[in-house]
Formats: sequence, structure tokens, C-alpha cells
Amino acid sequence: MIVQIAKHSGFCYGVKRAVQILDDLIESNNGQKKVFTLGPIIHNNQVTEYYEEKGVKIIEKLTDFVDNRVDGDRLVIRSHGAPKFVYDLAEAQGFVVYDATCPYVKKIQNTVSSYHLKGYNIIIVGDMNHPEVLGINGWCDESATIMNNLHDVENMKPSDEPFCIVAQTTFNLSTWDQMIDLFSKKLSNVIINNTICLATEQRQNACVELSKSVDFMIVIGGKHSSNTRKLVEICSKNATTIHIETKDDLVDVSMFKSDTKIGIAAGASTPDWIVESVILKIENEGEVFFDGKSQFNG
Ligand code: F3S
Repeated sequence: MIVQIAKHSGFCYGVKRAVQILDDLIESNNGQKKVFTLGPIIHNNQVTEYYEEKGVKIIEKLTDFVDNRVDGDRLVIRSHGAPKFVYDLAEAQGFVVYDATCPYVKKIQNTVSSYHLKGYNIIIVGDMNHPEVLGINGWCDESATIMNNLHDVENMKPSDEPFCIVAQTTFNLSTWDQMIDLFSKKLSNVIINNTICLATEQRQNACVELSKSVDFMIVIGGKHSSNTRKLVEICSKNATTIHIETKDDLVDVSMFKSDTKIGIAAGASTPDWIVESVILKIENEGEVFFDGKSQFNG
């Protein structure tokens, strides 16, 4: 087997930063105050379990634990961000808020907030159920129209009202390009902000490139991770692709023949140690040659 790793794989800048903020908080807090995260710090079960063992509690809604908290408890907002009302509610409940919103997501929140105040209609291109999109919508009084595909734009009536368009940071780049083409034809007064994150673009492009040159792609990342699922979708177009969370999901390494070319990619919320353990499993159970150009590169 020849194994090659996608050029851009694993933790992105925003995830590294969020995890660092939580690590620093745990260390400085030294068990004195309860530490909560609003939703899992990142979409990766193994990372979540690691923090749960350190005493970090996950809460889904601020109102869920109102009876258990005490003033001064710590609340970490994860890299996806949160709606404005969450900050207000957390403060009103006596939390000390640690904001680990990725700066790129924060920039989108600021953009929609300022254009909303100027009277623009806001369109968010993304998944209406994703926490990042819900968070962004919470900075324009939840007034945004959320669109996810070309069909949504086709159904839109032409307008000369002012519009501001932003994208979920992990949105598929080629779908975005097609949607923008159509938006430009239907809207005469539109500000288009391509807010797809460079990390996403790099990971998606690396997956296109690698999946075209191998027989089999293994994409590693949380089953709920939006960016990982998009990498799976992209790779599936060019090679047989499986999506695994850990090495334990890779049941039968013997299915790979001696001349099988395997590509490995990891989502932006997949830690290096999980990727390394998958490689070790393949290495230990089969004859593996690593491509000299392979690298971990955030
Ligand atoms: Fe931020 Fe981009 Fe990662 S928006 S969380 S650096 S995918």
C-alpha cells in the first residue's frame, strides 16, 4: 500500500485557538469554578470525552442548568460562535464568559450586524441547522434568509432592494460560486462577501487533488462535523471513500491490496493523535509505503 496524507489536514487555526483557550482556562481555574462549554467545544467525540474527564460540562441551552450554576462559573463559547442574546443571558446569569469564537466567524457576525443596522437584507449561505449559521443569524436579530443550494436561489424573486450575502465558513466553494453567479443576476444592489474560510478551501482543494490520484480515501473526523462530511462528499466523487472517527472504525485493513493507493484526509476538528493512530493501525496491519511528499500541514 502507498499512503499519502492530504496537504492540509486536521485542526484549523480557529479550532486550535478554541482548544487552547479551554486548556488555559482549566489550568488557571485549578478546579475552583465550574467550567461549561456551550455545546461541545468542537465536533469531535474523542476530544469532548477528554475534556469531560477533566470536569468540563457541556450544556446545550443556557436555561438547561439554571438551577445548578453559581455566580462566577465559567462559560466557554466555542469556535462556531453564538447569537448575541447568549452573551446577554450568560452575563445576566452571572457567568464569566470566555469567547473562543473563531475570529473569522466573529468577522462575519460583525458584517451582518453592521449591514443589518444599515437596512440591508441579510442572506446566509449555509446549513440552517448548523450552530455557526444560527449564531451569525443571532447578530442580525434573526432576520436572515438562509439558503443552502442553487435551487433556493432559483426560487428567489429578482429584487433591487439592498442585500448583503455571507457564507458559512465551511460551505462548499464550487456550490457557492454557482449560487453567487445566480444572485448577481437576480439582485441589482448586493454586497457579496465570500466568507468561506481559507482553511476550508485548502482542505477541500487538497482533497480534490489527492482523491484523484488514489484508489481509496479515508476521511477522519467526527460524524457530526460539517467540514469533515463535506470532505467525504468531495472525495467520494473521485475515489472509494470511507468516513471514520477513529482507528476502531477501520475494521478490516486487509481489504487493501499491496498496490492500493490510499489517501488520508482529516477534518478541521480532528486532532493529530487520532490521525496518527489510524496511520499506525494501517502500518501495523499491512505493508505500507508513505509518499515522501506527505505531511501534516494545518
Ligand atoms: Fe475558523 Fe476557518 Fe477553522 S473559520 S474555526 S479557521 S475552518
